[in-house]
Amino acid sequence: MMTLPSLPFDYKDLEPFIDEETVHIHYDKHHQTYLAKLNAALEGTEAASLSLDTIIAQANSLPKAVKNNGGGVWNHSFYWACLGKGKNTPSSRMMGLLSASFGSLEGFQTAFMDAGLALFGSGWVWLEKNTDGTLAISTTTNQDNPMNDRASAHLVLTCDVWEHAYYLKYRNMRADYLKNFWEVVNWEAVEGFYDAPYTFGA
Ligand SMILES: [Fe+2]
Repeated sequence: MMTLPSLPFDYKDLEPFIDEETVHIHYDKHHQTYLAKLNAALEGTEAASLSLDTIIAQANSLPKAVKNNGGGVWNHSFYWACLGKGKNTPSSRMMGLLSASFGSLEGFQTAFMDAGLALFGSGWVWLEKNTDGTLAISTTTNQDNPMNDRASAHLVLTCDVWEHAYYLKYRNMRADYLKNFWEVVNWEAVEGFYDAPYTFGA
């Protein structure tokens, strides 16, 4: 049986940009439900002995319920790990890395927000580290993860653009949610994921 990592901050810590009630429903209900369904889908199967990271990398050859709920668990755990209170400025090193690939911090943020806005329906926006150290933006739909198709994908940052991530506070205004997302990104954590990829439960 897998369990969820604890939230790395208090429910109210992302206020006013992401409200306490949204974090409660998102973590306590949505995220926990993915976990419960993943555990149910894994029970009694060979995949039950795999780590979630391995499940994500092999998801395309596993049952749909394992892929979808495994993605729901992994993606949200990584999302929470990227967020926090009051650490919203990239270091000069991180700033340099973003500028090298996107021209500037603002250039990166605009490209990331544009990708989130262009994503039809529910899904995720990702910042990935290429093998040469440069950075790139990608998106996935539903609870898919870039590692489903490319096991070696090195994920640095993510943003959940499912409506449940923002609808209570922002209603249909995904653009406003994406704009305020930058206020709660924990750049120290993100820089850590540039150096060593996130591992579920680590
Ligand atoms: Fe979500």
